[in-house]
Amino acid sequence: MNNTITLNDGIKIPAVGFGTFLIPPDGSTYKAVREALDAGYRHIDTATAYYNEEEVGRAVRDSGIPREEVFITSKLWVSHFGYDRAKLGIERSLKKLGMDYIDLYLVHQPYGDVLGAWKAMEEAKAEGKLRSIGVSNMTPKIWNSLVPQFGVMPSVNQIECNPFSQQKAIREIMAENDVKVECWGPLGQGSKDLLMNEAIRSIGERYGKNVGQVILRFEVQEGMIVLPKSTNPERIKSNLDIFDFTLTDDEMAAIRALDTGKTKHDPDAPGVGEYLINNYPIND
Ligand code: A2P
Repeated sequence: MNNTITLNDGIKIPAVGFGTFLIPPDGSTYKAVREALDAGYRHIDTATAYYNEEEVGRAVRDSGIPREEVFITSKLWVSHFGYDRAKLGIERSLKKLGMDYIDLYLVHQPYGDVLGAWKAMEEAKAEGKLRSIGVSNMTPKIWNSLVPQFGVMPSVNQIECNPFSQQKAIREIMAENDVKVECWGPLGQGSKDLLMNEAIRSIGERYGKNVGQVILRFEVQEGMIVLPKSTNPERIKSNLDIFDFTLTDDEMAAIRALDTGKTKHDPDAPGVGEYLINNYPIND
């Protein structure tokens, strides 16, 4: 039901994961994750700064699906960067999730003492607490300033990516080291322009698929991991139903041509790190 991709450290990850950013921890995350697991998702993406790790963990436990059959990603927040703080941050995520290991753990945002945090993550990987480790929101500039100093190559870089923002420059750098792209906002975060795009809609008509399904299929055929999010049960289901058709080379080229070369979020912009620290506080 869900294709699997092998990361550069040998860990296998389902190509479609369920995203939980902005789903509140008021029971909505629990409900959406249970819905997703029932629909067949076996990969859930959360983060310290989504404030919903606890509900994700509870939903996985209550589903009755064996822990080893569900791939869990979480992320270390900037408040826990630096070597010593990162050790605490990893333990905090494990505790909130109620799990003794996390399948994939990411440096959520590339600001502050990333090198110290990465060292702690490398050690937690060696100890088996984190099966795979990666980064997020790295542009070519940030990647080139940090990754050459890492001891372990990240397995993924989770970045904003959709047909209008195809991230060609960073993808080329990542491909040299077999680092996989994970797309956050793979549906353009619900962008009407994208979800009503005529070229994509007409491709979907040939297969009886909606625009969202064609977009996700395109991204997966590009070799990327996608993390669509929805709280609507029908869309949760339909976003996973993308493995019974294949886009032709011409259709792939037509969607590749929609790239604007721009992104909504610019990690290189001055002040982004400070903005994030101030707006997503983690106080414990
Ligand atoms: P909803 O929760 O009502 O489904 P992204 O994954 O790119 O961040 O996009 C998430 C947004 O897109 C949410 O607002 C979600 O709303 C909406 N969405 C999710 N799946 C689809 C789909 N298949 N078609 C249209 N909108 C979707």
